[in-house]
Amino acid sequence: MAYENLIVEKRGPVTLVTVNRPDKLNALNVRTREEILEAFENLREERGIRVVVITGAGEKAFIAGADISEFVGKTPLEEREIMQKSRAFDAMEDFPKPVIAMINGYALGGGCELAMACDIRIASSKAKLGQPEIKLGIIPGGGGTQRLPRLIGEAKAMELILTGDMIDADEALRLGLINYVVAPDQLEARTMELANKIAEMSPIALQMAKKSVKNAARLGLFAGLEAETDLFILCFTSEDKEEGMRAFLEKRKPVFRGR
Ligand code: COA
Repeated sequence: MAYENLIVEKRGPVTLVTVNRPDKLNALNVRTREEILEAFENLREERGIRVVVITGAGEKAFIAGADISEFVGKTPLEEREIMQKSRAFDAMEDFPKPVIAMINGYALGGGCELAMACDIRIASSKAKLGQPEIKLGIIPGGGGTQRLPRLIGEAKAMELILTGDMIDADEALRLGLINYVVAPDQLEARTMELANKIAEMSPIALQMAKKSVKNAARLGLFAGLEAETDLFILCFTSEDKEEGMRAFLEKRKPVFRGR
């Protein structure tokens, strides 16, 4: 598929995916959502790609939500059909490699939801985040009512979802919604630095670690601990595990090949 609204750039082991509709603040219309799903499907298979960063084009927005113009006049059945197809907001959650959201501006509605489905969130100090759906007479439908309380607790999540208020990056950091706030001109460098650091790890261990941490929200403690043991043992099937142990004992840097 030739992308109309996405730019996919390989930078060594890190791939940068940019949602590219800056004149619409990178709002996710159906076409863009299909392209995101397609891009992540392709990136999943490519062995050389260890970490994916997703961001928005332009100075102003990461993603300002689902494209509101596509909601007008939609019937429940039409909307249900769209929702039942696998959703771009969730593609990062089950993706087997780490995904970092580089939040360069507005992350609203589906934009905030997509960022929350990523593994790490780094925001520019100019960014604003929120779930404004209530102001449109609807509720978050891309995971917001589930992921936001898990990340920041029910009290604040409820307030943000019921008021539709936006918060700035510092407040998002204080609440635990994002990992870092950086100056706008440092955002890309700091994100790439972090992405490259993670990309040096064993991709097999990264996949197991991501899956296990995600299990914390999906399973109860007992089942989660059991699953962690299984994933830990699975790491012992890899050459990377031998390399990691040997490199430590030989006092050198490991070279993980993803085998
Ligand atoms: N869907 C469709 N178009 C959107 C959009 C969205 N979610 N968010 C922004 N746009 C469009 C605007 O309609 C405008 O298009 P136009 O130039 O053709 O009129 C363009 O992007 C620029 O946005 P504008 O509103 O003029 O910028 P602003 O700086 O005045 O305000 C926001 C910025 C983010 C506060 C405002 O755009 C906004 O509230 N967007 C909607 C956010 C939202 O409710 N998201 C959840 C959707 S479920």
